[in-house]
Amino acid sequence: MCGIVGIVGREEVAERLLDGLRRLEYRGYDSAGIATDHGGRIERRRASGKLVNLARELAADPLPGCTGIAHTRWATHGGPTTNNAHPHATDEVAVVHNGIIENFKALRDELIGRGRVFTSETDTEVVAHLVSEKVEAGFDPVGAVREVLPRLHGAFALAILFRKHPDMLIGARLGSPLVVGYGEGETYLGSDALALGPLTQRIAYLDEGDWVVCTEEGAQVYDRDNKPVERAVTISGVTGELVSKGNHRHYMLKEIYEQPIVVAQTLRSYLQRMEERVTLPIPEFDLSAIKRVTIVACGTSFYAGMVAKYWFEQFARVPVDLDVASEFRYRAPVMEPGGLMIVISQSGETADTLAALRHAKAEGQTIAAVVNVPTSSMAREADLLLPTHAGPEIGVASTKAFTCQLAVLAALAANLAHAKGLFKDGEERQIVRHLGEAPAALNAALAYDESIQEMAGAVAGARDVLYLGRGTDYPLALEGALKLKEISYIHAEGYAAGEMKHGPIALIDENVPVIVIAPSGPLFEKTVSNMQEVQARGGKVILISDYDGIQAAGEGCIATITMPKVHPLIAPLVYAVPVQLLAYHVAVAKGTDVDQPRNLAKSVTVE
Ligand code: F6R
Repeated sequence: MCGIVGIVGREEVAERLLDGLRRLEYRGYDSAGIATDHGGRIERRRASGKLVNLARELAADPLPGCTGIAHTRWATHGGPTTNNAHPHATDEVAVVHNGIIENFKALRDELIGRGRVFTSETDTEVVAHLVSEKVEAGFDPVGAVREVLPRLHGAFALAILFRKHPDMLIGARLGSPLVVGYGEGETYLGSDALALGPLTQRIAYLDEGDWVVCTEEGAQVYDRDNKPVERAVTISGVTGELVSKGNHRHYMLKEIYEQPIVVAQTLRSYLQRMEERVTLPIPEFDLSAIKRVTIVACGTSFYAGMVAKYWFEQFARVPVDLDVASEFRYRAPVMEPGGLMIVISQSGETADTLAALRHAKAEGQTIAAVVNVPTSSMAREADLLLPTHAGPEIGVASTKAFTCQLAVLAALAANLAHAKGLFKDGEERQIVRHLGEAPAALNAALAYDESIQEMAGAVAGARDVLYLGRGTDYPLALEGALKLKEISYIHAEGYAAGEMKHGPIALIDENVPVIVIAPSGPLFEKTVSNMQEVQARGGKVILISDYDGIQAAGEGCIATITMPKVHPLIAPLVYAVPVQLLAYHVAVAKGTDVDQPRNLAKSVTVE
């Protein structure tokens, strides 16, 4: 993953590069660094840990120069030490890299054989040495890069700085995103338009295999066959402002609280409230011929897809295949002609999901992308863009993107049912009404924040936690466990409630809190039976249900969380709130870094 930013211009760059890195921290934050070309020398400042350490380093030892590259890292090869922090450099060049050079071992051995000395454990350093060798052999920067690129296997976005050419940066991309920004007398490279927000809005997205020579005057792009090409310049619409936390202590909490508004905002594109009809933002797209749906995503987005499987089967009666993207790619998935593939992603850049999209596209599937970043690779490559309007999600743990994904997927399932003529009298109207109730119900769920905070202590001391649910509450159980794991570092698992007796019930004792998600409704009794099996074995249950459910089954639980009573269609959106708040308050009680938990990054652009 990692974030890259580069500037070639006439004014000092270090502070602006650091600002670009702040905007890219969502891509990784275990070390960072900047290199500039100044006075005929390449100089670097690097620091392990969060960006604030690099800022301190720069304050103590400023870095002059009008051309530079910068990097924030999520470690793949080599631990998050200062030595492994990018940029990697020789006397001649400095390189920042996002991605993985898969053949780096062979290249490294070859370079060591020729006497090159390595100072890091990274795959990236081979690029610095390979380019440097060419430069030392007399190639100009363009020639050197042209020679080296075909030798690199894997995925990369690169920005390269040359000691003898302070008026130039070269970038390249294959598999990892890279954009070029055009300024006045300056040119920029960035992992995305967001990084360049304060610098320019004029952005060109590089295609796979492109490489680019940037100077103060502009940029020349070459395709993978080294032919000069033009890439369209678009206006990004990204402003220079960093999203603030408002009055909230963490981005995650702010984002949890934004859900009523952003879900309403999202639904506006998918519901005709007056006509009581579902609709798509691309109305001319005919869904009636869709015979099979394949849903592919990762992490929280995958759980949104898992909920959607229930809806597609229930409303549209189409068979649904569901897979995590990292598995889908390496199976031999059978996709029928006329199938629809739905990729779901907050960032729109997750490497595995993007690869699955490309694979399915090559197999002739129609691709619908439910994405939150409208300028992302998935948004640009899909046939049908179904945006979520969650706004920037900064907290690493996904919250508001999840509920917006659910809103879009429910509307899409209903659109498919409509296109197939499956709705009986009034059914579509009912769906529109229930979805329309979601924002208010989310608001009502947020009112229980304080009581959830009070009971977080019951979970914060645990070593293991189980989450149980049935039907669409099963993916929520998985999501609850994921949220708790990633931000509080407590081991947690989600199970289909009915599966407990097939093995996991052996884990139950008085030290393992069991969180049961069971809104009253058709599956309530069944889930409660499973809950009672847990209680009969000394298990300590926290029940999340509505008033009726708590009245019926709350006795004997160590705690209960009362939700508003809602229609089953919107229950997954509403019950996401207590699941998120519980994880949040447990993490705060444990004192972990809620917005930037250890070992993680917001955008996962490596396989
Ligand atoms: C968990 C979380 C991750 C992401 C996953 C997919 O809170 O945020 O599991 O959901 O990395 O990311 P996107 O949705 O950007 O493809």
